[in-house]
Amino acid sequence: MDQATNLRKLVLENRQAKKTRTIAIASGKGGVGKSSLAVSIAIALARHAVSVTLLDADLGLANVNVILGIIPKFNLYHVIKGKKKLKEIVIEVPENIKIIAGASGFHQLANLDAKQRADFIEAVSELDSDDYMIIDTGAGVSQNVLSFVLAADEVIVVTTPEPTAITDAYGIIKSIASQAPEKTIKLVVNRVQSVAEGRRVAQRVINIAGQFLNVKVENLGFVYEDVSVPKSVRNQKPFIVSYPKSKASVCVSLIAQRIISKETEEGKASGLPGFFKRLFRSSELEEE
Ligand SMILES: Nc1ncnc2c1ncn2[C@@H]1O[C@H](COP(=O)(O)OP(=O)(O)OP(=O)(O)O)[C@@H](O)[C@H]1O
Ligand SMILES: [Mg+2]
Repeated sequence: MDQATNLRKLVLENRQAKKTRTIAIASGKGGVGKSSLAVSIAIALARHAVSVTLLDADLGLANVNVILGIIPKFNLYHVIKGKKKLKEIVIEVPENIKIIAGASGFHQLANLDAKQRADFIEAVSELDSDDYMIIDTGAGVSQNVLSFVLAADEVIVVTTPEPTAITDAYGIIKSIASQAPEKTIKLVVNRVQSVAEGRRVAQRVINIAGQFLNVKVENLGFVYEDVSVPKSVRNQKPFIVSYPKSKASVCVSLIAQRIISKETEEGKASGLPGFFKRLFRSSELEEE
């Protein structure tokens, strides 16, 4: 069986569970490539006959929109407030993924009454036939970011080889581990010059997390430093579409394949209702 068929088979098996797998992309330091990777990983996953939604949780800076050249008029807040139906705010882009613009502040979630929450959870259940939801977050360890990370089934922490980025990656891993010791933490090293550099940085983060935090971090791979990434941002077309053979695109495709092949082992997607329930719960704690 060739690899594409194999991956498709895995996707179909995973779909039996009928629950969306939620994966948050986070980093300690800003500007390490979260949004670029969130968009391209979502598109790469969608190429394996997978339905994917990308949630832009970092609405303040509207990263995903810029990369894809779209301007959403409405966001999750309109759904929460009952002004729009979920279907009406979802944007389908030609790259075969769906985009949802997040609410522009976590506090907006905290101010809902029980009925609004229940209606909202019901509304998002519509999307629960999707295979994946990728959540692009803002940088750092604010409660806003952590809430999305903690609500997701998995988190991918992005770092670059820069020492400050590595230190901050350790910082966010520490915060995640202290609030959710059971969470699967995956690592992507972005902007590397060589395979050896990618391995060395990943090993360093994995070792420190294991030694000082007793947390298992899994290496999901690396992405090369590649001019096609900033070029594509300028053209508002994702690099994985404009430059599918570029070094960065090849790396991202491998990462997407690993995501698909790993999930059968882990097998604990909790779906969109589960994700948003956890998000609301943490907003309640926040309020107290
Ligand atoms: N592999 C790469 N090679 C070259 N440039 C890259 C690579 N990945 C990201 N960049 C560049 O780094 C910059 C920041 O990327 P991006 O906006 O994706 O980061 P971010 O982590 O989402 O930032 P923020 O924390 O502000 O949300 C962009 O200009 C992008 O083009
Ligand atoms: Mg970003």
